Amino acid sequence: MLNFTRIRTQSRNCRSLPLAGKEGMDYSDPKKKGNAIGKVLVAAGLVTFCLVMMKQSPTFNTPTQFSHHEPGVTHVLVTGGAGYIGSHAALRLLKDSYRVTIVDNLSRGNLAAVKILQQLFPEPGRLQFIYADLGDGAAVNRIFSENAFDAVMHFAAVAYVGESTLDPLRYYHNITSNTLVVLKAMVLHGVHTLIYSSTCATYGEPEKMPITEETPQMPINPYGKAKKMAEDIILDLSKQKPALAVMILRYFNVIGSDPEGRLGEAPRPELREQGRISGACFDAARGIIPGLKVRGTDYKTPDGTCVRDYIDVTDLVDAHVKALEKAKPGKVGIYNVGTGKGRSVKEFVAACKKATGVDIKVEYLPRRPGDYAEVYSDPRKIRQELNWTARYTDLEESLRIAWRWQKVHRNGYGPVLAAAI
Ligand SMILES: NC(=O)c1ccc[n+]([C@@H]2O[C@H](COP(=O)([O-])OP(=O)(O)OC[C@H]3O[C@@H](n4cnc5c(N)ncnc54)[C@H](O)[C@@H]3O)[C@@H](O)[C@H]2O)c1
Repeated sequence: MLNFTRIRTQSRNCRSLPLAGKEGMDYSDPKKKGNAIGKVLVAAGLVTFCLVMMKQSPTFNTPTQFSHHEPGVTHVLVTGGAGYIGSHAALRLLKDSYRVTIVDNLSRGNLAAVKILQQLFPEPGRLQFIYADLGDGAAVNRIFSENAFDAVMHFAAVAYVGESTLDPLRYYHNITSNTLVVLKAMVLHGVHTLIYSSTCATYGEPEKMPITEETPQMPINPYGKAKKMAEDIILDLSKQKPALAVMILRYFNVIGSDPEGRLGEAPRPELREQGRISGACFDAARGIIPGLKVRGTDYKTPDGTCVRDYIDVTDLVDAHVKALEKAKPGKVGIYNVGTGKGRSVKEFVAACKKATGVDIKVEYLPRRPGDYAEVYSDPRKIRQELNWTARYTDLEESLRIAWRWQKVHRNGYGPVLAAAI
């Protein structure tokens, strides 16, 4: 595990292991000298063995603020906190005085985002980062035994619909099976509160709009199916464990970034192809790709292009904090997190052109198989029950904020190019 906010000290010595003979060493006798070297080597070997064993031990680390519960402090495990949404959520939690542990395997996230958070909140006991893969049950178990979590926000996942159809097993493993690992550790270590990142992809292609939480879930791709399976496991578990407090949030299309420009969305270059519309829009504005390809202009929508519900990440993390505050033992809350308003791809492109000030080239192509015409949420339930409502609903403004970050971060979280564009 890589841990750079909390210094792990070797607190215990190998008390029972003698490192040298009583009589000391005699350097004049070559036979004895050979003996002495041998002894030193054996001792060094034993010390190494001892240290390795200690490192395996869950109690190896000196207790820190992270390892015990503190009255008045809520310690949240943020899985996937180096990623786009997870890092924004961690920022908000830290701002609101939560204690945060980020666990991420950095397969898709950015360590630099965590470092920014660390610089903003350097005080001991605020933020720690643990490098680990949630597929590694032993590592996850160790993390839970070494840390006193009060709640888990489980963001970590691979999250591209197209990729999920090409590599379904990866999605079932990473999303469904890893959620199982997290749940087992929560049960074993008595952590009762879970805020789960789900998606509108679990609904598939509903006939009726807007989508309510009662809309039947009939996912049509492995990503949506894997998330639905994870939801089902969580629901079954909660029936058996009355102490569990669960909130499942089904996000619509997430856009935007921190209005103060500290964090942004920076997917790996190799994921651009799989990418989301906002990423493609910024790439086109920066000339990384020649233009935008709009697939499908003959859908039954007002302007013929697909309609989606774009939710700003600042609003989304606000929904998480409200969900955490309102989570109650024995209760499962399921909420759509969207604006309730659908925007067409054409509208999105127009907003993107205005936000970036670039006259992005647009190519109109035939429909892409598997795309649905219209998806937008009914956000009434979350408004009524969690008192949450989307505030960043001006598409152009959300894109302008995100573009500000993108402009100076042409390499994502790589070296800042202040003079760019
Ligand atoms: N971005 C969206 O539009 C959107 C929409 C609906 C739902 N979601 C959900 O929100 C969550 C976060 O998505 P995001 O857009 O921030 O994605 P992201 O790729 O930016 O972040 C995911 C993070 O999880 C980490 N991760 C992945 N597998 C891991 C593993 N096995 N162990 C430890 N860490 C692992 C990655 O390294 C990355 O930092 C996901 O669960 C996703 O399904 C996202």
